[in-house]
Amino acid sequence: MNPLTIDIQRLQREIDELSLITEAEPPVVTRVLFSEADLRGREFVKELCREAGLALRADAVGNIFARWDGANGKLSPVATGSHIDAIPNAGRYDGVVGVLGAIEAIRALKKSGHRPQRAIELIIFTAEEPTRFGIGCIGSRLLSGVLTPDRAATFRDRDGKSLDEWRRGAGCSGSLDSIRLPKDCYAAFVELHIEQGPILEQEKTAVGIVEKIAAPSTLRMQLTGVGGHAGAVLMPERRDAGLAGAEIALAVERAVTGTGSPDTVGTTGVFRIEPGAVNSVPCRALLEIDVRDTKLATRDAALGLIETAAAEICKRRQVALQTNRLNVDPPAICDGSLVATVAGVCRQLGILHKNMISRAYHDTLFMAQVCPSTMIFIPCRNGVSHRPDEFSSPGQIEPGVHVLAQTLAQVAG
Ligand code: GLV
Ligand code: MN
Ligand code: MN
Repeated sequence: MNPLTIDIQRLQREIDELSLITEAEPPVVTRVLFSEADLRGREFVKELCREAGLALRADAVGNIFARWDGANGKLSPVATGSHIDAIPNAGRYDGVVGVLGAIEAIRALKKSGHRPQRAIELIIFTAEEPTRFGIGCIGSRLLSGVLTPDRAATFRDRDGKSLDEWRRGAGCSGSLDSIRLPKDCYAAFVELHIEQGPILEQEKTAVGIVEKIAAPSTLRMQLTGVGGHAGAVLMPERRDAGLAGAEIALAVERAVTGTGSPDTVGTTGVFRIEPGAVNSVPCRALLEIDVRDTKLATRDAALGLIETAAAEICKRRQVALQTNRLNVDPPAICDGSLVATVAGVCRQLGILHKNMISRAYHDTLFMAQVCPSTMIFIPCRNGVSHRPDEFSSPGQIEPGVHVLAQTLAQVAG
């Protein structure tokens, strides 16, 4: 194969351009699933795919597939991809590097004269981020069959609007039953992503190859107490949903630190109280709690402790509690031979690399259930992510794109 040239300036321009498509004031990126910004972002990416000569299709939940046909149509394709939706107050690299970087990888392969045997397919996954429905990776969960269409049909946002209403409004057609992929429909899946942690930068290592993805879970707790006048309702009479929520948030911290493992982490990232008036006792609270671990046993033990503590707190405070486990996922083990292939590519290119665990979740968590999968991590400044100051330099992105391109070429033949 001819040597590859990655046009990193062009890729950086595209990353910068996409970051301006946001619901917030740049440099803050907010692109929540099926918002106007998400829809415009999708159009931006689709146009780049068309310019790169890729054939586009979308499924019923809006997963986008951009395909470069292979010489041998009988062979299963190789897939890559990531997401462009972004949580509120995010940066410009999470997910985007894996989508725009994959387009650049394909352009570089085409420019080099490479003609793959297997098709190479880029997937832009719907709703990797959990913002709209409280659960992440909706697209890849449906593709892998981990999420059933029946359960997906029950998803409602905070205003009661369903996934079906949102997807139809976004122009998606067809039934959710049509999304699931047959097993081994791809020869491999490789996702390029920023590390979202500090290890690669600290160890001056250009590429991380993911062997395992930590097990995520999310609890939603709805608390109903009794509201009233902040001056008139005396303290012994109160059934304050906000205070019960505050105690639960502290119980989350206690439960995850109490496992004794630094790998157990818990975050009460959503905490809303109603009516939200300074002179009114909170009558309702909504908590969304994220608990993760590299080991299932300690993650599940922490989840159990949190649920027990929440029940005790709400009973004592006479607040009604409804708990939903939105997702409780096992970790993913990546494919050993694909990990070795990526390591071999790094060695050929003289790129310093190491195997690692992903503490963040990704669509690869679910693609790993369908086909051999792994991820290519690149460093990001101070390990910062899910913040507007998230940053990877062009010099850090380029090796990741190069390794992705060579890996796709190697697997596709
Ligand atoms: C993905 O964005 C995650 O929260 O790990
Ligand atoms: Mn993210
Ligand atoms: Mn991501």
